[in-house]
Amino acid sequence: MNRTVALILAAGKGTRMHSAKPKVLHTLLGETMLSLVSHATAALPQIDALHVVAGHHADLVFEESARLAPKLDCAILNILQKEQKGTGHALMTAMPSIKAQCTHVLVLNGDAPLVSTMMLEKFLKHSDGADIAFLTLHLENAASYGRVLRIDGKVKSIVEAKDFDESAYGPLKDAHEVNSGIYYFSIRAAEVLLPLLSCENKSGEYYITDMVGLGVKTGMDVRGIPVDNMDMDPNSLLGVNTAAELVVAESLLREHTVNHLLKAGVVIHSPESLRVSPFAVISPGAELFGPAEIYGESVIEENAVIRSHCVIRDCYIHHHAEIREFSHIEEAQIAPGAIIGPFARLRSGTFIDENAHVGDFVELKKTHLGKRSKANHLAYLGDSIIGEDVNIGAGTITCNYDGKHKYQTHISDDCFIGSNTSLVAPVEIGTGALVGAGSVITKNVPADTLAIARKRQENLPRKKK
Ligand code: UD1
Ligand code: CA
Repeated sequence: MNRTVALILAAGKGTRMHSAKPKVLHTLLGETMLSLVSHATAALPQIDALHVVAGHHADLVFEESARLAPKLDCAILNILQKEQKGTGHALMTAMPSIKAQCTHVLVLNGDAPLVSTMMLEKFLKHSDGADIAFLTLHLENAASYGRVLRIDGKVKSIVEAKDFDESAYGPLKDAHEVNSGIYYFSIRAAEVLLPLLSCENKSGEYYITDMVGLGVKTGMDVRGIPVDNMDMDPNSLLGVNTAAELVVAESLLREHTVNHLLKAGVVIHSPESLRVSPFAVISPGAELFGPAEIYGESVIEENAVIRSHCVIRDCYIHHHAEIREFSHIEEAQIAPGAIIGPFARLRSGTFIDENAHVGDFVELKKTHLGKRSKANHLAYLGDSIIGEDVNIGAGTITCNYDGKHKYQTHISDDCFIGSNTSLVAPVEIGTGALVGAGSVITKNVPADTLAIARKRQENLPRKKK
């Protein structure tokens, strides 16, 4: 029986990006290229293991694969390609790890981030039974892509852009059909062909693409499969080698994601200015106003409203919650009916309970704000548990950090914290307590008491000059 593993080539330096960061860690709508390619591949039912070949800054790439591992439908394994001697060399390096596990390998360039699961699924169907198959696309300007050469429609070889010479290949050429960088090899074919690769070419590298010509010569079943035959969008195969290509790919992904949401019934005002991750889950009936940015695995339920200029990352926003203009929220959960903003900042670990309000210039971190409680103006609440029906006055802050450690503040139900209060943690405010404005609270306040911790006002005669 056939067993296929996937191999993502991600060891290259990405010289043309002119960036210190490995190319596959550059992001589109907040997701790394490695994440996008891994998600599309791991979702294939035929694939039960994903191998990532890294080399340049491999530690950073492996860190990213470790971050992705729990999110994927299959195992992810790392392979180190110490020296990057080309895409053929990357496959050679991977062979010892993969060949015992499978009969076939699906190889993908890590720098073609728009590839979809459905496209790969169709490609695998067309590849069934082949020794080698690869996906091609038609480009008016073949630029730096490898050209597919055919005679009478049959694949002859792939010639890399650097080595492409019109005078030598002119008579054969259809220079518009190019190699996408997605391949299917039988392990048997790879074992025969890899030792035949040479690095005698303009780049001095072992090209995976030379396996096509060598396979044809050896009489193998080699198939170049044009994406047009699969009724799929050729743009999904675009490679990213430069910053300019990265933003082109990103804007294609953005448009695709936004159109998909609109079709599903998400109301998006000014859709052209919404940046939304393809991994966000937004229900029909949610209403969004651009410009806005929604990243990560954010969930937005039906009848939630996100007003303009918000940045939302990995948040869960329940139905009938409203996020008003210019709010920034990250790893927070907003319960039904809560109102946030405008100009609010909610940081990691914040939970805003049902019908609670957080107003302008209020920052919360690792804080639970209970049902119907309000912090409407200019406050900082960190490492706090705040009960139900609490009012936090303007200018209130929790002093949660002594320079070394963080401490908790507990405010029980029905408390009223007067304006400009400093709550020096660790501190507890009992149920129904009232704290007078301008207090510096350093001791616990028992239930149903009034605490005032400020100097009494004195009115003295004014000295006249
Ligand atoms: C490659 C193909 C080209 C194809 C194009 C599609 C080769 C020789 N050429 O060209 O035919 O049209 O992709 O986008 O394969 N990598 C490694 N180890 C290495 C070198 C590269 O893992 O030693 C990885 C890179 O990180 C990258 C991928 O392989 O993700 C492709 O390498 P790149 O140098 O970008 O190849 P292209 O010139 O784009
Ligand atoms: Ca490339």
